[in-house]
Amino acid sequence: MTFNLLDWREDAKKRVAWEAVKLVRDGWVVGLGSGSTVAYAVLFLGKRVREENLKIKVVPTSYQIFFLALNEGIPITTLDEHPKLDFTIDGADEADKNLNLIKGGGGALTREKIVAFASERYVVIVDETKLVETLGLKTPVPVEVLPFAVSFVVREAKKYWVDVKVREGKGKVGPVVTDNGNFIVDVYCGGIKNPKEVDDKLKRIPGVVETGIFVGVADMLYVGKKDGGFEVISRS
Ligand code: A5P
Repeated sequence: MTFNLLDWREDAKKRVAWEAVKLVRDGWVVGLGSGSTVAYAVLFLGKRVREENLKIKVVPTSYQIFFLALNEGIPITTLDEHPKLDFTIDGADEADKNLNLIKGGGGALTREKIVAFASERYVVIVDETKLVETLGLKTPVPVEVLPFAVSFVVREAKKYWVDVKVREGKGKVGPVVTDNGNFIVDVYCGGIKNPKEVDDKLKRIPGVVETGIFVGVADMLYVGKKDGGFEVISRS
């Protein structure tokens, strides 16, 4: 498959999306993360479903991906019907070479973490701007929070980190409301030396539903390169 080279990042995202979709086998139940890179994967999955009569079912993690999959004619199922998934394809906001991730730029982090842990194989697809030496320098850690607890969570998080913000909606006044009816708090941690420790610290605050730090769950990271290629980093 060839791609238009108009914008290298979009091209890189499409390339790794296609590589991940090529791994999907007939009969599988596939988890789908959210965001623009996963959206490309859904389009490619739809193509395979139509052209190869691939018999798969997907579990989307957001309304964005639910409606896209519906539109592509890909059969949709739930985690209740399939608590164990064969495979999941997801994007990330940042990834390091140890396959630690920051996720949640699109606010779908909680369902994404659930499908990641429910999945036999969890494959992450990014363009090379997302691959970093140290997590957290460019991206805050998104945290999904119960609305009732939001001010309390902000106050507690500020004991460790100075810059903690409730995410504001775009195209809507007031805070972002997730697909689960919660708020997102963005915690600017700076360089994260120990992702697990930051995740644990945040999760100990009552009212925190989930954090966007993913440690020890990704099996493979596909990185789309500016030079037209891609790199695969696998769990060692
Ligand atoms: C959604 O909440 C996120 O975890 C996305 O996976 C992440 O923001 C990557 O999105 P893009 O593929 O649009 O960069």
